[in-house]
Amino acid sequence: MKSYITTPIYYVNGAPHIGHAHTSTMADILKRNRKALGYDTKLTTGCDEHGQKNQEAALESGMPITEYLTMRSGEFQRLFDMINVDYDYFVHTSRPEHMRQVANVEQRMFDAGLIIKKQYSGLYCTGCEQFKKTTDLTDEGNCPDHPNLGVEELDELNYFLNIEPYRQQLLEHIEENPKFVDPPIYRAELKRMLAEPLEDLCISRPKTRVSLGVELPFDNNYVTYVWFDALFNYLTNLDWPKEGYEQWWQAAEHTIGKDILKTHGVYWPIMLMSIGESPPARLSVHGHWVGPGGIKMSKSLGNVVDPIEVIEVVGTDALRYFLARNMRSDGDSNISLELVRQTYNSELGNKLGNLLSRAAKFSKKQFDDRVPTPGLFGSADEIIRISVLEAVNGFARRIEMADIPRLTQQLITVCDRMNNYFAEQAPWDLIKDPITDERCRTVIYVSLDCIRLVFEALRQVIPMSSNAALLMLNCLPNENEIWQPALDSLPPETKLNEIETLYPRITE
Ligand code: MSP
Repeated sequence: MKSYITTPIYYVNGAPHIGHAHTSTMADILKRNRKALGYDTKLTTGCDEHGQKNQEAALESGMPITEYLTMRSGEFQRLFDMINVDYDYFVHTSRPEHMRQVANVEQRMFDAGLIIKKQYSGLYCTGCEQFKKTTDLTDEGNCPDHPNLGVEELDELNYFLNIEPYRQQLLEHIEENPKFVDPPIYRAELKRMLAEPLEDLCISRPKTRVSLGVELPFDNNYVTYVWFDALFNYLTNLDWPKEGYEQWWQAAEHTIGKDILKTHGVYWPIMLMSIGESPPARLSVHGHWVGPGGIKMSKSLGNVVDPIEVIEVVGTDALRYFLARNMRSDGDSNISLELVRQTYNSELGNKLGNLLSRAAKFSKKQFDDRVPTPGLFGSADEIIRISVLEAVNGFARRIEMADIPRLTQQLITVCDRMNNYFAEQAPWDLIKDPITDERCRTVIYVSLDCIRLVFEALRQVIPMSSNAALLMLNCLPNENEIWQPALDSLPPETKLNEIETLYPRITE
């Protein structure tokens, strides 16, 4: 079975921010989940290096354009490396072969009579790189996602793709494939977008305005509209149209933020249908991280949380954990360095790390550096064991992006129960009396075995610290084996390694 997961390719008009870190991290979690289930996986992320806003940013920087693109896309790549995004391919739309295929497909569409040239006047948001209808704008006449930028009035001769003839076919596709868009609120939103006739899609920009892009093969006064070019990355990453792409393409899942639902849910499937390719299997959509005032973070607005700063203060896994745990699927979610730090201290530190350290250090001290051999399990033991197994089982199935917060929360909730179990069983009292010595061994065994299971599941979310924990317990599973969570897989008498503080408290 194959799994091809993509992230949006990000504009390089500024440094990466937390929103970019988010989608690529969620895509990485999905890849790790599929891999644990035995899928053959491919994950792509990268940069969208064309278009007006990148061109303007490059100009402002005073750097030669290619140097600017290399500098910025390098920042994105370094961030994704820092955050442990296990991508198989990093996209650059300036790659010559990608550009060649974009030009080829345009020529094909042109030859098939799908592209027309006409005068168009409309309002343009550079933030979105899209024409807007007045009904898309706020009462003040601004783009809701980029209220500070304003919209430009443009009156231009351009090339267009007639997309209305495919609207019905796309609606039917959505009906027949209930999981095409997930979660369901965005499916409903997409259906609303398709309720009215669609205007022609402008696929060109005159070079007098934008020169950074793929030249139109049939008119060298124009470059390709940045979205038309960018969306094709999902195919060109697979060496399309060369043979061999089909099996991956059938398994394509695009992870996106809700801001780009229209481009991925309306334009992209129609562009594909017009050339006889099938739509992607899945669009997995998430809401936005917002800063103060509930305004979406964006580079254009300058109200961003810097992921590198967050990582430098609290570490990669603190950030990954916060993103995974807190994104609501039905709206926007708040983030700040302070919130990430608090969550890290109170959940990873106090609930998970603490329990590992208490149980493992106790075991080392009392049982000669080893995992004890348990006696018979009692009902308190079985109850906690079953709860843990249930919680981790969420990650032993194929998960959707929208499931990630709930499943991650389940793991931390079960940690609360494990902490209660540990406190109630009070192994430090049991050890004092030879009569309860065996009971003590059982409690410590159950605790360590349950912690092991939780970290096995958490490898999908916070791989670095989970692997470190499993190494301390001396039971690191083989990454390439299919994961089948089971109780009692921590062999009694395993020699424990050095137990270090996994999530040291961070105060400032
Ligand atoms: N270049 C286009 C995408 C082309 S894909 C063929 C683009 N780039 S972008 O830099 O603006 O990135 C948008 C994406 O970044 C969002 O869809 C989302 O995945 C992520 N985020 C950007 N800001 C975000 C938040 N504030 N919150 C969460 N994610 C957001 O659009």
